[in-house]
Amino acid sequence: MEKEYTYKDYQNTAEWLLSHTKHRPQVAVICGSGLGGLADKVTQAQTFDYNEIPNFPQSTVPGHAGRLVFGFLNDRACVVMQGRFHFYEGHPLWKVTFPVRVFRLMGVDTLVVTNAAGGLNPKFEVGDIMLIRDHINMPGFSGQNPLRGPNEERFGDRFPAMSDAYDRNLRKEAHCAWKRMGEERELQEGTYVMLGGPNFETIAECRLLQKLGADAVGMSTVPEVIVARHCGLRVFGFSLITNKVTLSYESLEKANHEEVLEAGKQAARKLEQFVSLLMASIPPSGNII
Ligand code: HPA
Repeated sequence: MEKEYTYKDYQNTAEWLLSHTKHRPQVAVICGSGLGGLADKVTQAQTFDYNEIPNFPQSTVPGHAGRLVFGFLNDRACVVMQGRFHFYEGHPLWKVTFPVRVFRLMGVDTLVVTNAAGGLNPKFEVGDIMLIRDHINMPGFSGQNPLRGPNEERFGDRFPAMSDAYDRNLRKEAHCAWKRMGEERELQEGTYVMLGGPNFETIAECRLLQKLGADAVGMSTVPEVIVARHCGLRVFGFSLITNKVTLSYESLEKANHEEVLEAGKQAARKLEQFVSLLMASIPPSGNII
């Protein structure tokens, strides 16, 4: 079995990055499948491939580039993860979430998470953006939790609360920013459920997830959010609805990764603009609750 990271490993990676860039990011943004285009909006960009960063895991999924981009989004100092790590790739959750703690040690105080997700809520259309209000940690139900094991007190408490995981003020700000964008479709808001993947869901599973109160389903995000909240980061995020899940045995529709990436591409500009706008809503450094 692979050895888990020590506090020193997180420190070493943070120090390596701090000594290789002059950027001092306040906000970290994790780009979901097909949403890496956000990194191209970063000004004064300095880029590191994951394979040149000490201790960094490697990304294996098409549509996930595997680069850290430092710079500014709408004048806010940022680090953008172009490509994330997934449980289904075979990474343990402590590895999936490694970058989050590194960002914390670098001085980041806010994490923005994005993902591609299947729409469970019948109101949702392909291309909609769902602001994440809450999540259901399905792998957590069977004990798969990134915080499992000895607690590292220097990051946070043994039993962190998750009832306020997604920042209420920033969610409010997001609705205001969305109105300013003048979009025809309303900004959706709801609960994201994470499944381990990599297969898409059966019809029975989708029906179950709907009954559980989930609005969108995906294979990521929740581990990073748990670790971010544990170490005191402010979090907010959204799902791009890339497909509607299949709920009927009569339907001939099937989810596939290409469809996910294609919908990501089409909605990418809207999303980039939205995230950029929202940068202005994040309180300045030092105002962490
Ligand atoms: N299910 C799970 N993950 C996904 C989906 C889906 O339908 N679409 C995009 N990511």
